[in-house]
Amino acid sequence: MIYQKLLDFPEHFLWGASTSAYQVEGAWDEDGKSPSIIDMYEHPAGYADFTVASDHYHHFAEDIALFAKMGLKAYRFSIAWTRILPQGTGEVNPAGVEHYRAVIAECRKYGIEPVVTMYHFDLPWCLEQQGGWLNRATIDAFENYARVLFTEYGSEVKYWLTINEQNTMILHPGAIGLPKGGQLPSRKDLYQMNHHMMLAQARVMKLCHVLCPQAKIGPALNLTAMYPETCRPEDAIAAHNWEVLRCWNFADVPVFGQYHPLAMRYLEDRGLTPEIQPEDWDTLAGAKPDFIAMNYYSTATIAASRGDASDVSARAGDQQIMLGEEGVYRAAENPYVGKTQYGWVVDPTGFRYTLRKVCERYHLPILITENGIGAPDKLEADGSVHDPYRIEFYEKHLHAMREAITDGVDMLGYCPWAAVDVVSTHQGYAKRYGFIYVDRDEQDLRDLRRYPKDSFYWYQKTIAENGKNL
Ligand code: BG6
Repeated sequence: MIYQKLLDFPEHFLWGASTSAYQVEGAWDEDGKSPSIIDMYEHPAGYADFTVASDHYHHFAEDIALFAKMGLKAYRFSIAWTRILPQGTGEVNPAGVEHYRAVIAECRKYGIEPVVTMYHFDLPWCLEQQGGWLNRATIDAFENYARVLFTEYGSEVKYWLTINEQNTMILHPGAIGLPKGGQLPSRKDLYQMNHHMMLAQARVMKLCHVLCPQAKIGPALNLTAMYPETCRPEDAIAAHNWEVLRCWNFADVPVFGQYHPLAMRYLEDRGLTPEIQPEDWDTLAGAKPDFIAMNYYSTATIAASRGDASDVSARAGDQQIMLGEEGVYRAAENPYVGKTQYGWVVDPTGFRYTLRKVCERYHLPILITENGIGAPDKLEADGSVHDPYRIEFYEKHLHAMREAITDGVDMLGYCPWAAVDVVSTHQGYAKRYGFIYVDRDEQDLRDLRRYPKDSFYWYQKTIAENGKNL
């Protein structure tokens, strides 16, 4: 659709930026924090680990002051469950509670809306040792953790995100590290964990609405539209297969309280159906999110399965993410989109397309909780960092979002990845995402000083103009 005039960004649009606790905080064992699975898992050799990360735990006041200077209206960060409840459940750690109280207060001081992710990949290790998400008791533990968060911060936090990228954890579990010995759970177990996470999420959304009626809560999923490689009907079916299994099934359950019918049939056919107790359906149907939080990086292009092992291949430039599934879909190339240095597809129009699809499926407001480009930025001798590729990436994606707003999509805000440099999930520190450069490299911590990049000043101007330049 080509319009005569694009609509403006809404007046109270949440111009923000994101981080997650384990990728930015460091202080992995300080002030009573216990290890999470991330701290105990094996990560690719030669890359930065997560023990210090960007040391945001000690630099948060300085960082938030910079976010305020950039003009942020929202800061999306995650709370480390292991700081609040070092045993996963039970006794609350006052130092952990005070830390996030201080982070929230610092945001509020500058009029920055805290957007809090409750769980971003970092399950307490002690719970993992008791079976983790395979154990139904973890559902109670998550609800108990949520109750502490709502009680402690409910008056100060309006926007809550339940679980970050449940679909990534279930479909690409190795992306966040490998258990010792490298053995990942079976697919059957992964779908059982998925079911338990869905129940935990439903209980927590319901609890939020009871304890904090003024607050809003939603799941944060990695959503992306799929293109068929050609107009061959079989390619279209394959694209739909993967779009459902990768995206819609994970969003349908929180919104509709039901698994997607195609996904359910797939699970049954493959012997992957989780054990579902009769009362689970009421739990799932008894909660509804207020908005959909969406992480968007790339679209995917899909071809019909050949029905053999050749359907499976590694993602370009990333041996750790396998794509394709026998009898389901095969990853294909798209000649019409760009790619980052790390091989990730860059597709701003696909962003608009995905937003339209999410809007039309769920009829809920959308909050972008991640979008960004990883690149090996360079600190110049004068302290500047020139990242024109990042500015171009954001310019194009925000323009596409403005088109989506004009299409009728209800957008709450935009919190790209990342507010400040963070450690990538599995590709180290050199793959930088922030508006603010942190002076460290993979192994050498240097002085961890902060330097605004060119994109920082570009975003500052964009926010000041409420996106009228886009
Ligand atoms: C998202 C995650 O999948 O992508 C983030 O929620 C992550 O935690 C981001 O950092 C970028 O991915 P990566 O692997 O480049 O760090």
